[in-house]
Amino acid sequence: MSTCRVARIAEFGPPEVLRVAAEALPPPAPGEAQLRQTAIGFNFIDIYQRRGVYPLPLPTGLGFEAAGVVEAVGEGVSDVKPGDRVAYMNAGPGAYADRRNVAAERLVPLPDTVPDEAAATLLFKGLTAQYLLRRTHAVQPGDLLLVHSAAGGVGQILTRWAVALGATVIGTTGSPGKRGAALAAGCAAVIDLNDPDWPAAFLAATGGRKARVVYDAVGQDTLLKSLDCAAPFGLVVCYGAASGKAPAIDPELLNKKGCLFLTRPSVFPHNADPATFRANAADLFDAIARGHVTVTIGGRFRLDDIAAAHRAAEERRVEGAILITP
Ligand SMILES: NC(=O)c1ccc[n+]([C@@H]2O[C@H](COP(=O)([O-])OP(=O)(O)OC[C@H]3O[C@@H](n4cnc5c(N)ncnc54)[C@H](OP(=O)(O)O)[C@@H]3O)[C@@H](O)[C@H]2O)c1
Repeated sequence: MSTCRVARIAEFGPPEVLRVAAEALPPPAPGEAQLRQTAIGFNFIDIYQRRGVYPLPLPTGLGFEAAGVVEAVGEGVSDVKPGDRVAYMNAGPGAYADRRNVAAERLVPLPDTVPDEAAATLLFKGLTAQYLLRRTHAVQPGDLLLVHSAAGGVGQILTRWAVALGATVIGTTGSPGKRGAALAAGCAAVIDLNDPDWPAAFLAATGGRKARVVYDAVGQDTLLKSLDCAAPFGLVVCYGAASGKAPAIDPELLNKKGCLFLTRPSVFPHNADPATFRANAADLFDAIARGHVTVTIGGRFRLDDIAAAHRAAEERRVEGAILITP
């Protein structure tokens, strides 16, 4: 039995409920691989789970994505071997650790073009952008898209990839200081959400044209107004709730706003099947190799300072992705 350092919560609450401690790490079970993790990703879902918005049985680890090196494999594992560089984004919570056992079918080997830090900050967020741009709506050249939180982790990746596909992206940010990051990601214009009539500002920026798709992961503060920015027969994608749970919407409202489509998708079912996950990851790695997808690391924290990483994200102080190092 070897040891590892793991961040866990024993109760739901503020960032301080995260505690890092040494634990015993058993050898990998059949079907598992043991990883020495070199880079760990932070995702906003980690906050929802820490707060108990999406409750998990306690105590629990948190974190969905990491990259590292395979140290050992359990019985029956043939697709990865000791020494392989790998990453994962859908192996259950518990990525906040320096070493971990993971179901081998949840791992994807990393190409030389994708360093560990990029993998740990891109896999979850990049595969989110991948299904949003390819499956939720197959983005076409000339599509006008409204992307909320365009300076955030998913927001920057989604914007860059959409622009590479030929779309025009109008972004929003929660503060003027993030405008530069949203423009650098490829937004044609950036709307400040502090303007109470930000939908009018959006329409002013587009010359009155409405969006084919609105990507909204802010939720409570924005979703109703997002409906006013979608073109007739357009799509409103509610894929998160950074400001709180989105309001319930009467289907009749979708009729009144222009026969809109509304969906609430998630990255997990899109990557539940291991073969589909690896195919999606190959698509993402191809987009990285083409330069269509890059990540901006806007905050770096040690595993021991994981509470500070959560606080920075909650306080909207980060532009881009947060990287955690063991
Ligand atoms: N459904 C899915 O498959 C899926 C997968 C991944 C992520 N997501 C969602 O996508 C969003 C972005 O995730 P991320 O990991 O990229 O995190 P992130 O970088 O921290 O992004 C969260 C963004 O939300 C905005 N925001 C608005 N109101 C906020 C508030 N009250 N508190 C904190 N942030 C607020 C912030 O941008 P401004 O300050 O500029 O407004 C911030 O950039 C989250 O809502 C997450 O749940 C969904």
